Amino acid sequence: MSQIPLVDLKAQHQEVAEEVQRGFAQVLEKTAFILGPAVAEFEAGFARFSGVAHCVGVANGTDALELMVRAAGLGPGDEVILPANTFIATALGVVRAGATPVLVDVDPRYHLVDLEDVARKIGPRTRALLPVHLYGQIAPMEGLAKLARERNLLLLEDAAQAQGAKQNGVGAGGFGLAAATSFYPGKNLGAYGDAGAVLTNSPEQNTKLRNLRNYGSDVKYHHPELGFNSRLDTFQAVVLQAKLVRLAGWNEARRQAARRYDELLRGLPGVVLPETLPGNEHIWHLYVVRVPRRDETLKRLNAAGIGAGIHYPIPIHLQGAFKALGQGPGSFPVTEKAAAEILTLPLYPQITPQQQERVADELRKAIG
Ligand SMILES: Cc1ncc(COP(=O)(O)O)c(C=O)c1O
Repeated sequence: MSQIPLVDLKAQHQEVAEEVQRGFAQVLEKTAFILGPAVAEFEAGFARFSGVAHCVGVANGTDALELMVRAAGLGPGDEVILPANTFIATALGVVRAGATPVLVDVDPRYHLVDLEDVARKIGPRTRALLPVHLYGQIAPMEGLAKLARERNLLLLEDAAQAQGAKQNGVGAGGFGLAAATSFYPGKNLGAYGDAGAVLTNSPEQNTKLRNLRNYGSDVKYHHPELGFNSRLDTFQAVVLQAKLVRLAGWNEARRQAARRYDELLRGLPGVVLPETLPGNEHIWHLYVVRVPRRDETLKRLNAAGIGAGIHYPIPIHLQGAFKALGQGPGSFPVTEKAAAEILTLPLYPQITPQQQERVADELRKAIG
């Protein structure tokens, strides 16, 4: 029985193997291990690709979130609004910066932040909105930008799952003060280890972030503020640069694969297909359907060699780590219902029509 993984990183590596090898050899030759030229080259390339002025490479996506929140001047006493339906790192980044996450529910169609709930949760301590561009599509930024303007809030973005995604022509990092992203290996643009970045159009944020990631240093051995050691590794920059030049093509291949799933799965009883918010150019980081008896369906798919998964099975407010928020079951009904029904199907640029047909066949059997 052939296995179909959730993500096929081997197939991806084959496309870049030679370039990566050459790039690694150059780094070794120059011994430019920390903030070598490959880092600046990738930062410039990714900023251009994203349509923003600056990209600051850091050690991982969680650090990117923390440093972005800190560079925005937020800390103890400040509340940051973010969705309950996200990976835990969105909330961790806020907590690690000393600020307080305030959770909101998502909408049932796109699983993105619910604007009405955001408006309801804005209080006297709210300083920023932090939507997540979940599964590869941009959150409803027009509504969020309007709220941010009216209520005098900062607009930040978690763009870990949205490298290359656009909304009405604008990409992550172009809507507000800054966007944090992750190059975790399985992301659309993935490193060969941990890596992340912050995107911004603001020259002040750019400078602050560059200092914060480098021991709070502006000039070598001068440390006007407390900082971190969180730099994008030079070897990871080599990998990311080799992949970046292919990313637009890979995102297009994902879009085609998503359309193929739509065709293969339309009409399957009880299966709800993912939808794209109007104005969005989706990059399909994850193809997430909703199915009846999800846990049983997932078990059957996995037993048949299909690497389906769940993103995410436990919402933030029901995680032990966030017990102190005091929000038990029932606090975010849409998120909780979704968490019990969602199922992620294998999707990556190199997936073949035959593989997708097999996934569809197995899903039909699993729910039948
Ligand atoms: C939405 C979201 N935010 C943040 C992160 C954290 O990134 P990292 O794993 O690089 O710390 C991830 C991925 O892991 C993510 O999917």
